[in-house]
Amino acid sequence: MNFKEELEKKTGKVEEILAAYLPEPEGYQSKVLEAMAYAVSAGGKRLRPLMMAESAALFVEAEEVWRTDGTVVPEPATVRALPMFMAAIEFIHTYSLIHDDLPALDNDDYRRGRKTTHVVYGEDIAVIAGDGLLNYAYETASRAFRKAVTLEDYERTECALNILVQKAGVCGMVGGQCADLLAERPETEVTEEMLLYIHKNKTAALIQAAMMIGAVLAGADEKAVEQIGRCAENIGVAFQIQDDILDVTSSLEVLGKPTGSDEKNHKLTYVTMHGLEESKRQVKALSGEAVGILKAFPHRNTFLETLVEQLIYREK
Ligand code: FPP
Ligand code: MG
Repeated sequence: MNFKEELEKKTGKVEEILAAYLPEPEGYQSKVLEAMAYAVSAGGKRLRPLMMAESAALFVEAEEVWRTDGTVVPEPATVRALPMFMAAIEFIHTYSLIHDDLPALDNDDYRRGRKTTHVVYGEDIAVIAGDGLLNYAYETASRAFRKAVTLEDYERTECALNILVQKAGVCGMVGGQCADLLAERPETEVTEEMLLYIHKNKTAALIQAAMMIGAVLAGADEKAVEQIGRCAENIGVAFQIQDDILDVTSSLEVLGKPTGSDEKNHKLTYVTMHGLEESKRQVKALSGEAVGILKAFPHRNTFLETLVEQLIYREK
């Protein structure tokens, strides 16, 4: 199987997992559940769940990671908790996009080639669809404790949940979003340091959560988890710079959302600060360093290495 086929197959598995954990719309809360499902089913690369599973595959066999029939209890048993965390992190990512697109924030009408949630369901429902997804993410992740067999499994699951809540919260993504919003205000003088803080938290934190949780559930030791965290930080920062590059170089047709929005919003980005060429160089350097860390693990995962490298060349 070539990389593209493998990616499609694995993305398909992620879609199945998401569908399995998403609640059916019913009762008086139907509308919010519909809006949640609309936002989650809008597609996207499913990068965070994929990276979680593939980081786990650095420490246990990939077959174990992607086996979903439950016939064998893997070692450690927490490998079976991966689907809950994979769904949870994509729910969190989706909520952040719903809220980010709202009129009060970025005011974007399109994402992933479709109308954004607030355009279809109204601002009021979009706000609570985001809230709903965030809560449902933790509801889903907390189900992972049921997979624990030993005390060590419980501790590992607790550690994974802790990483998720922290990296998504005020000391992670929400903090990064806060700095990003302030950076857009005319009275704020945006420094390089602030920009890096934004990238590290708004985007890299969730990618770190994905990869670190994968490692933890697969039984990686503390040092390995720390290395994975550093690797993911590089990937996340590179990813965000690439996002800023695409906002300048891509188009609505390719990206599925309007380009030039950073300029429209007078947003200072790595690209406006350092120019396109230097930004592209930086993406390459960061990704190179990240792949270097991955290659140093005793158990190679070439799929993950390629996935990370593809971020350099991604066009959407
Ligand atoms: C695109 O991801 C998303 C980012 C680059 C991260 C943006 C971060 C935020 C909008 C944080 C917002 C936070 C709050 C609290 C509102 P992607 O290319 O993986 O998107 P895809 O899922 O569509 O593929
Ligand atoms: Mg936005």
